[in-house]
Amino acid sequence: MNAAGKRAGRGLGIFFAALILLLSGTLRSQTSVPQPPPLLLGTAWYPEQWPESRWEADLVLMQQAGIHMVRVGEFAWSRMEPSEGQYDLDWLDRAVAAAAKHEIYTVLGTPTAAPPAWLTQKYPETLRIDEGGHRAEHGNRQHFNFANAKYRELGRKIAEEMAKRFGHNPYVIGWQIDNEYADVSFDADTKAQFQQWLKARYATLDNLNNAWTTAYWSQTYSDWNQIPIETHYGNPGLLLSWKRFVSDTWRSYQKNQIDVIRPNSDSRQFITTNTMGWFDGFDHYTVEQDLDMAAWDDYVGKGHLDPAKNGAADDLTRGFKNKNFWIMETQPGFVNWADVNNSLDQGEVRAMAWHNVGHGADAISYWQWRSALNGQEEYHGTLVGSDGTPVPLYPEVQHLGSEFAKAGPVLAGTSPKSEVAVLHSYDSRWAIQWQKHQHEYDPVAELVSYYRPLRAISQSIDVIQATDPLAQYKLVVAPGLNVLSDAAAMNLMEYVRQGGHLVLGQRSAMKNDDNGLQPERQPGPLAELLGGRVEQFYALVDPVPVTGRFGVSQGKLWAELLSASAKDVEVLATYGKSNGWLDGKPAAITRKVGKGRITYIGAGLDDAGMAGAAKWMTEISGVKPALGAVPEGVEVYPRHGERGTVYILVNFSKTQQTVTLPSRMNDVLEGGAKQSVSLPRYGVAVLSANR
Ligand code: GAL
Repeated sequence: MNAAGKRAGRGLGIFFAALILLLSGTLRSQTSVPQPPPLLLGTAWYPEQWPESRWEADLVLMQQAGIHMVRVGEFAWSRMEPSEGQYDLDWLDRAVAAAAKHEIYTVLGTPTAAPPAWLTQKYPETLRIDEGGHRAEHGNRQHFNFANAKYRELGRKIAEEMAKRFGHNPYVIGWQIDNEYADVSFDADTKAQFQQWLKARYATLDNLNNAWTTAYWSQTYSDWNQIPIETHYGNPGLLLSWKRFVSDTWRSYQKNQIDVIRPNSDSRQFITTNTMGWFDGFDHYTVEQDLDMAAWDDYVGKGHLDPAKNGAADDLTRGFKNKNFWIMETQPGFVNWADVNNSLDQGEVRAMAWHNVGHGADAISYWQWRSALNGQEEYHGTLVGSDGTPVPLYPEVQHLGSEFAKAGPVLAGTSPKSEVAVLHSYDSRWAIQWQKHQHEYDPVAELVSYYRPLRAISQSIDVIQATDPLAQYKLVVAPGLNVLSDAAAMNLMEYVRQGGHLVLGQRSAMKNDDNGLQPERQPGPLAELLGGRVEQFYALVDPVPVTGRFGVSQGKLWAELLSASAKDVEVLATYGKSNGWLDGKPAAITRKVGKGRITYIGAGLDDAGMAGAAKWMTEISGVKPALGAVPEGVEVYPRHGERGTVYILVNFSKTQQTVTLPSRMNDVLEGGAKQSVSLPRYGVAVLSANR
């Protein structure tokens, strides 16, 4: 086609495009899809467990509580497909429609966490085999084999049927694939898949043998099918590979369903799955790649909410997609699976919900609405009792519902934004778990020990991967980055060179990407930048005193003896009397590198030491509290948006607290402009600035 023809074609194209836009706009407004509220209160509802005649009463009670979302279907396979190929989704359609009449939107769970009895009877190979070689039986859930081709075929079919039926239903807002991926299978076929996976990763046995140093204990492999599965005490390269295989297999298990849901559904319907906080059965960064949004099930279990540990898990989940997430399940008071299933205090459920919203949750959904009259979880907390009438917690949740209605429009489009990042890595957690060296050493506790005082100071933290973009942060802290890939090392070095402050904690950069030892002492490839290194690590029985810029404290469990080779390295803290080796030696060092800085903390500091360290590192990095100083026990959660910042405040201390605000702010829940707010225990304020 000549140039004039092209131009004419383009003109015609623009005309038709405009026409289509106009028409689709008109169509959209005619068949306008109702919009769920921006901040959602929800519950897990199991209509399949109840006579349809009961649904209306439940939905009325939900609506009265301000609930606008139900998650439905994730264990209902035997109702959706009572025998192979006989699909019955009519009841589900009626349930979605019944909920819609009460302005309640539905998230549909694909039911693959609970295959029906006909399925496992007909295809026993779909049942998983545990490490001891025992095949799961019917009668519980999660008894399927995640790598089995037949299981995937059947799971794909039911997901496809659901998507075809509900993919364009305006009241279905999203999908949850399966439920809490966890148990894997150790059958012969899965093992063969693992060996194929290894072949794809390492290409040759020579590469694999080298990477794993299999000359050790005569482990050298001359055939791929000689390679075993190990989960506890195998070669570290083998152990890590198995976990990576498991992560990739969960990803493909999930993708198998996504691939039939996406083409059959509107793009406004999100796809997610519900994960479990610190659970490390697979690398969540791998699995979350194909999802639109992260969601997790937040259960306290025994005791009460620890805002730092729970908040770090929120931030971890937010870091999977680096955007807001959902609490897909949380406890209405208490659970049934802890050794003591105490209830959260009156007011604590509401406080916990706001704490989660503060960390970036856009939905809070209670598990579950009402207990089935039989089944494994009869004792679990609910919002209505077995008689179908509200339990004492119901009014508290109802109050939350009315608050969500007020605050939702203000919080719409806002999310946390932080100056401090804490780095998290599944590879590193696994590597430490397999070779703890001090049985009390817990990588999550280590991470939280940094997170806790840092959050109290900065009032907002991101928990992300070492390969994520870091330029926005004034301070990046890596509490236990034991396995350091080349890509992560490059990213961290670049961050420091560009002016950032990197703080490395204990056990940093000891391993390479194959879980082998780095050929340099810790912190491996970062040692040159640090101008110092770890001379030796020591597992401790008794604590060692640590003194210096972080004050006076006790170093617990683990101590790394540091040395400085570069002249401009500053020793921040030294060990006191201990095993002789550590006495008087550096426990923490720092070095300025251009505009940036790199610090290594080799001591396992107690709370006082950590508080001192957090103070030092935030001050030297220019990190400021987002709102300003607040009384101890008051949590501040800033969420930023184009229209300004919204601050959520929750008082987790035991007594009433008054917070003086840096400027007058609008009190979103109570109304009026305030210069200070007074909060009882578990009290909440939502404040908006700059509007
Ligand atoms: C979750 C699970 C729910 C329910 C709940 C009880 O892990 O997804 O189905 O069992 O625990 O606390």
